[in-house]
Amino acid sequence: MNPRKILVTSALPYANGSIHLGHLVEYIQTDIWVRFQKMRGHECIYVCADDAHGTAIMLKAEQNGVSPEEQIATIKKEHEQDFAEFLIDFDNFHSTHSEENRELAEFIYQRLDENDHIASRYITQAYDPEKNLFLADRYIKGTCPKCKTEDQYGDNCESCGATYSPMDLVNPKSAISGATPIEKESEHLFFKLPEFSDFLKSWTRTGHLQTEMVNKLSEWLDTGLQEWDISRDAPYFGFEIPEHPNKYFYVWLDAPIGYIASFKNWCDKQGKNWKDYWLDDGKGDLNVNNGTELHHFIGKDIVNFHALFWPAMLHSAKFRTPTTVNVHGFLTINGKKMSKSRGTFINARSYLEHLNPEYLRYYFATKLTNSVDDLDLNLNDFIQRVNSDLVGKVVNIASRTAKFVQKSGGILSSTVEKPELWQQFVNASDIIANLYEQREFAKAMREIINLADAANEYIAAKEPWALAKQEGTEQQVLAICSLAINMFRVIITYLKPVLPELTQKAEVFLNEELSWKDVVKFKSKHSINTFKPLLNRIEQEQVDAMLESSKQTLEKSVEEKPAPGREPIADEISFNDFAKVDLRVAKIIQATYVEDAHKLLQLTLDLGGETRNVFSGIKSAYQPEELEGKLTIMVANLAPRKMKFGLSEGMVLAAGPGGKEIYLLEPDNGAQPGMRVM
Ligand code: 2FM
Ligand code: ZN
Repeated sequence: MNPRKILVTSALPYANGSIHLGHLVEYIQTDIWVRFQKMRGHECIYVCADDAHGTAIMLKAEQNGVSPEEQIATIKKEHEQDFAEFLIDFDNFHSTHSEENRELAEFIYQRLDENDHIASRYITQAYDPEKNLFLADRYIKGTCPKCKTEDQYGDNCESCGATYSPMDLVNPKSAISGATPIEKESEHLFFKLPEFSDFLKSWTRTGHLQTEMVNKLSEWLDTGLQEWDISRDAPYFGFEIPEHPNKYFYVWLDAPIGYIASFKNWCDKQGKNWKDYWLDDGKGDLNVNNGTELHHFIGKDIVNFHALFWPAMLHSAKFRTPTTVNVHGFLTINGKKMSKSRGTFINARSYLEHLNPEYLRYYFATKLTNSVDDLDLNLNDFIQRVNSDLVGKVVNIASRTAKFVQKSGGILSSTVEKPELWQQFVNASDIIANLYEQREFAKAMREIINLADAANEYIAAKEPWALAKQEGTEQQVLAICSLAINMFRVIITYLKPVLPELTQKAEVFLNEELSWKDVVKFKSKHSINTFKPLLNRIEQEQVDAMLESSKQTLEKSVEEKPAPGREPIADEISFNDFAKVDLRVAKIIQATYVEDAHKLLQLTLDLGGETRNVFSGIKSAYQPEELEGKLTIMVANLAPRKMKFGLSEGMVLAAGPGGKEIYLLEPDNGAQPGMRVM
């Protein structure tokens, strides 16, 4: 078999947020597939990058008080660290804000332009006159024109489902500055997607996509495609468009080009030529352009970009098109959308602080199919699956039998004690390889665990530990346990793409690097090393601790208020703004702990006749008892806020950097509850 040349990508994560378990479904899925291809002897290159451009990243940097370049550099480090610890083995991880990507984006754009696939016209959009910024729909908030629900984002109402143009909102406001947006005209560039209608109808239906996706895309293709707006006005963090000063490529134009850029960056380091993979070789079969394949892995939310815009752009620019675009569903946790308040919005880091990444790699593998269905991480099932399959079944095969091989000198016997059982393990090779190839990992895991069951049944029936107590059975015990170790060796080989670290440990024990092609040869007269435990069971407490720390990350953002202390003086406000704040003397008549809250105390305040309930983040500095009876200052006209624990009707004032150093403001002697602070 000739080795294939395979280039693989996962979607590029945005450089403004952390990697979470939802992202990891895709990276783990792709990584398993890539490791499998490499194990089979193919040349498989896996590239990714941070998706570094766009308004969101620009604003995030501003919010953090850093330049966009600093922002994306910090996040890139964080992402790389998270991926490495989850054993996602990219050959290259680059950034869309790179020279390679600038050159490639300009080059591809120029080809689109030369081929008359770029149109230009004026459009009117909402504009923030304070920030001097055009506002995408999601940056405009206001009251729904239909049902009058307040605080609705963009172009549709979450309450009544109405759709409208953001400027139709009653009292629209820029979510960035609070200013009332105005309408403003500017010139935009468009990619003439409708001209690719026939090309896309044929491309989407010729084996590059899962059937469900073909059907979904047909709906879009049949209702007719629109031209695609590929430019954004300054200020924008991205690449300026050649010959269009102050216009930038829309982030989604240069994002997929980032796949090529990352690959080119890798090729330059390896002395290879990216063009072999990417430029149309003119031979008519782009699935194997110059003998190379291109496979993208993505989530179902970005199919239009990858299966319409992207192939059309590549086609216009005379690049090759993807061999496959593989779409997966979303992750749910315990059957529901990931939720910050349930603690199930779990970042990669929170997971890693409490659990072994291979548990999740295995669990996702047992759930992943080649369909776009959502997959559920049920945490009870997770504990149970991993403990039962990996610890109870797989590792158990070796831990029960290795010591008997050691006792006979540590060399495997050449007798195949039960040939038909061994044959079953050999025969599984093609079946399992085929399932990996088809991305049917759940089925592959089932086949593998069936083998583990067969191995355990065999060992249980033979009871080598009982046999070993009888005289003259040493060779027989050795033969049984050698078959067991051989079966273990096959199982670990089949699991190698999923569990690279466990495999490494097993390889030390087996004294051999495991490869797919050698797996079918019964290992005899081979010396093995002492068995050491390969994997611990998951304990419920670890999962609880992970959920708890995910909740705390949330509480930080609900209890927010930046930590008081020596911070820079905030922006100037007018006297009128200040006068709006109604500060009052309040007496703390009761203070209690709040169940499940890490930072909050619940205070009952007397405002001179009126009582208020306030949650305050001062638990780290005060015992409830010492607060009762104290006078303090509160913001009395703060709009009530609904918190996880109840309604908070105001805010008490305190100073300090946080932790034990929080000092409640107290008025001087003589002040009375309810007095206005002047
Ligand atoms: O949806 C996202 O998270 C995008 N950053 C994915 C980009 S994939 C590719 F096109 F760059
Ligand atoms: Zn509405």
